[in-house]
Amino acid sequence: MLELESLTKKFGGLAAVQDVSVTFEKGKINAIIGPNGAGKTTLFNLIGGVFQPTSGRIRFNGEDVSGRRADQMAQLGVARTFQSTNLFERATVLDNLIVGHRLRTRSGLIDALLGSGRLKEEEKACRDKARAALDFVGLAHLAHRVAGDISQEERKRVAFALALTTDPSLLLLDEPAGGVNPEETAGIAELIRKMCASGLTICLVEHKMNMIMNLADKILVLNYGEKNRRRDARRSRFQSGGDRRLPGERACCSLTGYRSITAVSARSTRSASTSRRANWWCCWAPTAPAKARSS
Ligand SMILES: Nc1ncnc2c1ncn2[C@@H]1O[C@H](COP(=O)(O)OP(=O)(O)OP(=O)(O)O)[C@@H](O)[C@H]1O
Ligand SMILES: [Mg+2]
Repeated sequence: MLELESLTKKFGGLAAVQDVSVTFEKGKINAIIGPNGAGKTTLFNLIGGVFQPTSGRIRFNGEDVSGRRADQMAQLGVARTFQSTNLFERATVLDNLIVGHRLRTRSGLIDALLGSGRLKEEEKACRDKARAALDFVGLAHLAHRVAGDISQEERKRVAFALALTTDPSLLLLDEPAGGVNPEETAGIAELIRKMCASGLTICLVEHKMNMIMNLADKILVLNYGEKNRRRDARRSRFQSGGDRRLPGERACCSLTGYRSITAVSARSTRSASTSRRANWWCCWAPTAPAKARSS
């Protein structure tokens, strides 16, 4: 569904995303984890067309979409939520959502001036879509509440609903449980599962490892490594089990709870103007651990 091939994004001398190659699978919850500053949001910005890659390719449903703008990616069916949720604070929740479906409508200025039938139909479609999305995320009762008055967890759900109104096939969720309490986190996790069950492909960035372990079908680990990992990282395939695991694999395992990880890509480079080495460990865990599956 979504393939990244040697994707790199540099900000001056800083390689925020370096040579990442990975495939995200259709209809699955694909998690991306890593420490602060690892480049998770930058990766989403590249996929979503906010940033243009410095090098590398992005393929979406077999089509090369590298260099497309954010609005073009949204048209293609890529929607996202952001680490911090920005809404029109003084507008109602429903009005915040009505704008989402506008990218699927065709009426323009002339229709507005003439008050055309097409405009009326499409306005109704946008409103219906907004109501359906709000219902889906469990906030139908908040339709007419002012957005500035709702809780953080409700804001996160509204952001999900806004993404859903664009009719996406791929949904990028950047820390959807950031700033919400454990009980609410469980509710958000349930909603993510429901979105996936409805046929959406999910890419999920989250620091809450319990949530990741309960939800993720596959996990991509992005990590800044140390200099001495470089040689190990270049081995083509990790061995699994016991002491034979390499330092990078051990780090990934302790982050994810998996006993062994198959690495599909692990590279490192020195960025041009800093001495920091950025190692990217892009690991697909072949199966989720038993505890994740049983919960
Ligand atoms: N627009 C930008 N200009 C310059 N540097 C940037 C820009 N955006 C991100 N960076 C840098 O790229 C690196 C990766 O940032 P990014 O926000 O992608 O990390 P992250 O993994 O999402 O971190 P967090 O978990 O804290 O959200 C950081 O060093 C950051 O300072
Ligand atoms: Mg981030």
